Amino acid sequence: MKILLLGSGGREHAIAWKIAQSPRCDRLYIAPGNPGTAQCGTNLPLKVNDFEGIRQAVIDHQIDLVVVGPEDPLVNGISDFFAQDADLARIPVIGPDRAGARLEGSKDFAKQFMIRHHIPTARHFSVTAANVEDGIRFLHQLKAPYVLKADGLAAGKGVLILDDIAQAEQQLREMLDGKFGAAGSTVVIEEFLSGIECSVFVITDGRHYQLLPEAKDYKRIGEQDTGLNTGGMGSVSPVPFCTDDFMEKVRQRIIQPTIDGLQADGICYRGFIFFGLMNVNGDPYVIEYNCRMGDPETETVMLRLKSDLVDLFEGVAVGDLDKRTVEQDERSAVAVMLVSGGYPEAYEKGKVISGQDDVEGSILFHAGTTLADGLLKTAGGRVIAVSSYGPDMITARQKSLSEARKIHFEGAYHRRDIGSDLLPKANASAE
Ligand code: AMP
Ligand code: GLY
Repeated sequence: MKILLLGSGGREHAIAWKIAQSPRCDRLYIAPGNPGTAQCGTNLPLKVNDFEGIRQAVIDHQIDLVVVGPEDPLVNGISDFFAQDADLARIPVIGPDRAGARLEGSKDFAKQFMIRHHIPTARHFSVTAANVEDGIRFLHQLKAPYVLKADGLAAGKGVLILDDIAQAEQQLREMLDGKFGAAGSTVVIEEFLSGIECSVFVITDGRHYQLLPEAKDYKRIGEQDTGLNTGGMGSVSPVPFCTDDFMEKVRQRIIQPTIDGLQADGICYRGFIFFGLMNVNGDPYVIEYNCRMGDPETETVMLRLKSDLVDLFEGVAVGDLDKRTVEQDERSAVAVMLVSGGYPEAYEKGKVISGQDDVEGSILFHAGTTLADGLLKTAGGRVIAVSSYGPDMITARQKSLSEARKIHFEGAYHRRDIGSDLLPKANASAE
């Protein structure tokens, strides 16, 4: 089978790494990919939202299956584009159509969906320019901190958590006035949920689903979860508090009602669903849905997926995912992200990366790298995820940290405490 994977980050490198191990995959193309994905297949210089260009590449390379990494092309309707094209309609796309992608593309839609299908989530109120005063009244009914979310995609920046009610009111007005562009023309005000987060992933053919290994990501730039939010500084899998008992609640209260709800609403969802969950005293609540895999969670999830990913893709395409199996590696996996100095604020690109060939026993997933003049150079804030297995989380992390130290570029930074919050306090300090 010839497969085209869309995207260019660490998530896509991890997916490409896994696809390339499958005996079912004859050729893998990645568009646009990065120097890491080039080790797993052939990169094609195409943008993920260039549907016409993708169409031509699919025809030219006789692609049998398309896997969509990021949310943008899904929200923009790439699956619908394939379904409506006479030459492409028979080619399965792993990723929902525009209607399904609204679970991520519109927070207001996701909230209404959860209410309609009785899926546990934080209380909310949706505000537009037409009902600002009602929104402010709702804000006053809540206790601090206050959660404000731009309805649409805002490159991960559309959520504000504020301690002060006056500030919350002001930010609400600024969002409605265009602080996040059109994404904020509707704002979802949410009750703050206090607990610990985790990321749960399924792949579904629209009727059946298979659960993938869960993970936890670390969004803040600083150790002990301090400082600015980033695209993700690392991840761990498994997550110790995702016990059988907790995961059974997740299946019964969240995953199954979501799959059933999509069907009941006439949405044929084929692809990944990423449930961003909050564990509130042992009970799971949905913080957000995403219509794709997580980054940097995928950089540990793929290590722990023992089953053939392409077999699962075939299950989605054929509609018999219930007949496929997911086997999880018993080991722990930890990914540590090497980032550019200054990230997530202004940072410089084009720094020469060295030492990567000395890494042994860990897997390097490229996130923001480029090849120029025969040299590997930084090309983004998040540069390389160093992913490792271990018999337990601490050993896996030690491995990732010791291999990460071999990689050099000017200004390189990484967190040393990925996963520490999950350990008993006595073991929690950074290495
Ligand atoms: P989202 O983009 O919806 O995932 O929100 C970004 C982050 O804000 C989440 O990962 C949480 O850490 C936090 N967050 C979002 N909604 C809530 C909530 N209702 N209660 C507490 N924290 C939240
Ligand atoms: N790691 C969170 C995300 O991919 O949205």
